[in-house]
Amino acid sequence: MKRTIITLCAVAIGWMCQAQIPVYQDETKPIEERVKDALGRMTLEEKVAMCHAQSKFSSPGVPRLGIPELWMSDGPHGVREEIQWGSWSNAAWTNDSCTAFPALTCLAATWNPEMAALYGKAVGEEARFREKDILLGPGANIYRTPLNGRNFEYLGEDPYLTSRMIVPYVQELQKNGVAACVKHYALNNQEKQRWNVDVRVSERAMYEIYLPGFRAAVQEGGAWSIMGAYNKILGTHACHNDLTLNRILKGEWGFDGVVVSDWAGTHDTREAAMNGLDIEMGTDSRPDKGISGNKFRAQDCYLGDDYLQLLRRGEVSEAALNDKASRILRLIFRTAMNTKKPFGNMDYAAHSRVARTIGGEGMVLLQNSPTKKGEQPLLPIDPSRYGKILVVGDNATRRLCMGGGSSELKVQHETSVLTAMQAKYGDKISYAKGYQAGKTMYGSVEEVEQSVVDQLRNEAVTAAREADLIVFVGGLNKNRFQDCEDGDRQSYDLPFGQNELLSELLAVNPRVVLVLVSGNAVRIPNPDHIPAIVQSWYVGSELGPTVVDVLSGDVNPSGKLPFSFPVKLEDCGAHAFGEIGYPGDGVKVEYREDILVGYRWHDTKKIPALYPFGHGLSYTTFKYGKPALSAKKMTADGTLTVTIDVTNNGQRAGKEVVQLYIGDDKSTLLRPVKELKGFQKIALAPGETRQVTFTITPDMLKYWSEATHSWQAEPGKFTAYVGSSSTDIRGKVKFELEAPL
Ligand code: BGC
Repeated sequence: MKRTIITLCAVAIGWMCQAQIPVYQDETKPIEERVKDALGRMTLEEKVAMCHAQSKFSSPGVPRLGIPELWMSDGPHGVREEIQWGSWSNAAWTNDSCTAFPALTCLAATWNPEMAALYGKAVGEEARFREKDILLGPGANIYRTPLNGRNFEYLGEDPYLTSRMIVPYVQELQKNGVAACVKHYALNNQEKQRWNVDVRVSERAMYEIYLPGFRAAVQEGGAWSIMGAYNKILGTHACHNDLTLNRILKGEWGFDGVVVSDWAGTHDTREAAMNGLDIEMGTDSRPDKGISGNKFRAQDCYLGDDYLQLLRRGEVSEAALNDKASRILRLIFRTAMNTKKPFGNMDYAAHSRVARTIGGEGMVLLQNSPTKKGEQPLLPIDPSRYGKILVVGDNATRRLCMGGGSSELKVQHETSVLTAMQAKYGDKISYAKGYQAGKTMYGSVEEVEQSVVDQLRNEAVTAAREADLIVFVGGLNKNRFQDCEDGDRQSYDLPFGQNELLSELLAVNPRVVLVLVSGNAVRIPNPDHIPAIVQSWYVGSELGPTVVDVLSGDVNPSGKLPFSFPVKLEDCGAHAFGEIGYPGDGVKVEYREDILVGYRWHDTKKIPALYPFGHGLSYTTFKYGKPALSAKKMTADGTLTVTIDVTNNGQRAGKEVVQLYIGDDKSTLLRPVKELKGFQKIALAPGETRQVTFTITPDMLKYWSEATHSWQAEPGKFTAYVGSSSTDIRGKVKFELEAPL
């Protein structure tokens, strides 16, 4: 009896305390009820205040109600250092260094969604530990031209690969109570003229190529926020674009999160009010009002006082404001006010292992042949074959986590290739810089004097004569006009005289391994003269050890290219129509290659790439059996399966990415020869065979019809291609779609 009374009292006290908590603070209540409750308590001014930044990387909550601010950070390869409240200078903290994870091109090259999950989890733990609510990433823009300075922040040229890789990243990141902010929505495929270029693109190319990655992030990944891009789309800036934000993102896809503008990507109050933007970030001047510099205050934002005036005068809808505020509240409840979220951590050792694992799976062995008949290929490096190994190249020592723009990271550590080679091979290693790329600079380019160029080249060539093996670590870097924001590459060539240096090295010593550190394809003038080439990407903190894992054979390479490597720039669809196709005429850029992006262009136009999409070698080899289909015909509600045996018929354990492409054999409108619709990465011991099964669904046969604004498929014959790359097809099977879809 006594116990019952005590329990009843406890329940009553609990209920009374509970009753004092406002609904919006009560995490046991459904989130929509909480949003409604909070919204009902807010003034017009408080709602407007939430819609624009208060500092470089934060937006206000509602202090009167105890609703906290939102804190954001770049993204996407690690958590950026702290920036000052009102300027771009760093805040000079000493506890804000991070792990740099591999650039997203490298993640895409793993072709392994499990790697994307590991990535999202680890970067999310660091973001949470640093008390961020939004991580500005990942990027989902499609690789359209190898000149784009920001391709390294994206997931390659294929919408299916992008979709499969972005979903686990977003899901695992958000489990930390940190929102992904998927960027840059949409059609932000060049940095040149990025602030204003008007992208003219067909509806079909949007739906088939440029939007699926974003859609997957939203609908399958459940992304809580998305960032509008700088460019215009069909005449209107992407940050306040009715078509892409209201109609597609929030309408068709049912996105319930927040649209954040790119920094200073907002240009008009009425459009921002009505066309789907929720939080305006980064505006620091108002050219239309002559306000800039120290005079600019938070309320001068387009969605600040001007917005309030329009609302007060009834010139823009209050319902749209309530929608913005509801979305922002929902986001705050999911992140900043989520008391159930984990604490995160800064476990550098564990996260470095994650970075190294992802990096190792992403490196792509582009070629590997012997220098003489009968000899072993140069890779993996067998130390007993080489007394002296010469490492050449600026990228062997450069701090590559620096530069590149907003994705620059202040790292807890970064191990260079040279350091890692010395750790592995001791005093066999010597170094010659060979070429000089100048300081890491975002805003300008440092010229290197000719006498320095000559001296460095001569030193390297002299050392090369004495060496048994040369490991040339070159490629691009994060300087302006390389892999860097707010400017594109000015040439497809390798910069800083690397081609000339390579030719001179090869002339005195043919045993050259080229390690290409870049986020982009580059022109390789005489690829046949270079025995081994590894595409190493920007791997982050663990670049050196990861490169050495692959060169030494401790890790058997299993990465595959997430984009095509054209022989020359004109072979790429974006460059086949002159300047109007890229960079545009100063006002607009026309995507005349339409849906034929990347390998879709190479295949359909029969223009071979130097290295095709999906290409990547291993230190072992894989034999494919004959593909078998479960049935010859597909019905509208049915699926088919394709099964194939894959055997590791080499000497080493390795991983293979088995790729499924589908093509419509005959169609009334243009379709690519084939499109990626499935892939599986499998690990095989020497001699082991595994059966791989792909399911083909009706959706995989469809194209976007501009006539009906919907997905459709024509009846007739289709081919399923199974291969080791988009051109190394090991088997084909045909099936028929009986009725239109
Ligand atoms: C970039 C974004 C970045 C933002 C904040 C912009 O210049 O385009 O990707 O998240 O700055 O640093």
